[in-house]
Amino acid sequence: MSLTFEPFANAVEYINVNAQIVSRWFETMRQRSERQFERLLDLASGAGTMVQLMLDSLPKDWHKPLITCVDRSIDALEITRQRLMPKITEKIECLCSNVEQLNVTKHSTDVVTFGNGIHYLDPEKQNQVLCRVRDSLKPGGWFLFNTAFYREARPEWTLPFYQKKVRLALKKLREKSVPREKDERRPTAADFLPREHYEKLVTDNGFELSDVVEVEAQLGQKAWEMISGYSQYAAGALHGFPIDEAATALQEAIAPAIEEHGRTDKNGNRYISRNWLAVAARAE
Ligand SMILES: C[S@@+](CC[C@H](N)C(=O)[O-])C[C@H]1O[C@@H](n2cnc3c(N)ncnc32)[C@H](O)[C@@H]1O
Repeated sequence: MSLTFEPFANAVEYINVNAQIVSRWFETMRQRSERQFERLLDLASGAGTMVQLMLDSLPKDWHKPLITCVDRSIDALEITRQRLMPKITEKIECLCSNVEQLNVTKHSTDVVTFGNGIHYLDPEKQNQVLCRVRDSLKPGGWFLFNTAFYREARPEWTLPFYQKKVRLALKKLREKSVPREKDERRPTAADFLPREHYEKLVTDNGFELSDVVEVEAQLGQKAWEMISGYSQYAAGALHGFPIDEAATALQEAIAPAIEEHGRTDKNGNRYISRNWLAVAARAE
């Protein structure tokens, strides 16, 4: 089992919700300025989804920016490089680093994207990153980020789905006598900080909050199975267990949980809604 984020990154629901968000970011940026950007810095690049969507959304008459991708996983960066190479060849630089320790050049970047990653950092590290992002941006530059791990991400009616899948997975793990580390710390992504926290984070770090929106995605069974197979998700839902065992147990719990607590879309498929918070902030 690979436990990487890549399978979920290819889920149609994931691509669609992120594409909607990126398209809105372009609308916001173009309402404020027609300035093209020379440099794009993408934090926590993963499988390169955000960069790919940013390139796909560039107005036809704009030139392609120089791109720097940062991730702490060398494997993720390799996937990103291979995915983007045919599109941009010489204009991509990949840096293997924690985003909170990244060295930046002052006023060197026009746009910084941080897709689906900010929730992995605790508030202190988020502040460190935003301070660096602020430094790296040219005046009038943009910081764009989104997350589906914040307090309002899970509508009230979907909560029984999460409870059921965790209950079923725990039962499976107990039946197999899988041991649990008692004092294993819950990962930061499981803290689900509120929308208000992210708004304040941005303004406290000297940005103007230009656009904040919540976008609903309807995730079907396959998508939930794929995200449950991602190590950081499985660790958040079932911390303390060996990750591969936790991920398998969660994946097996999806079908019965979505059957019981999901809603049915117009094609007759079950889904659970999840909200994405998307923020566009401008360096003043
Ligand atoms: C959920 S993926 C998001 C990928 C991509 N940005 C997207 O929107 O699809 C999260 C990525 O963040 C990376 N990551 C998590 N914490 C990090 C940190 N502190 N510094 C750098 N990368 C980090 C992981 O390696 C993973 O590739």
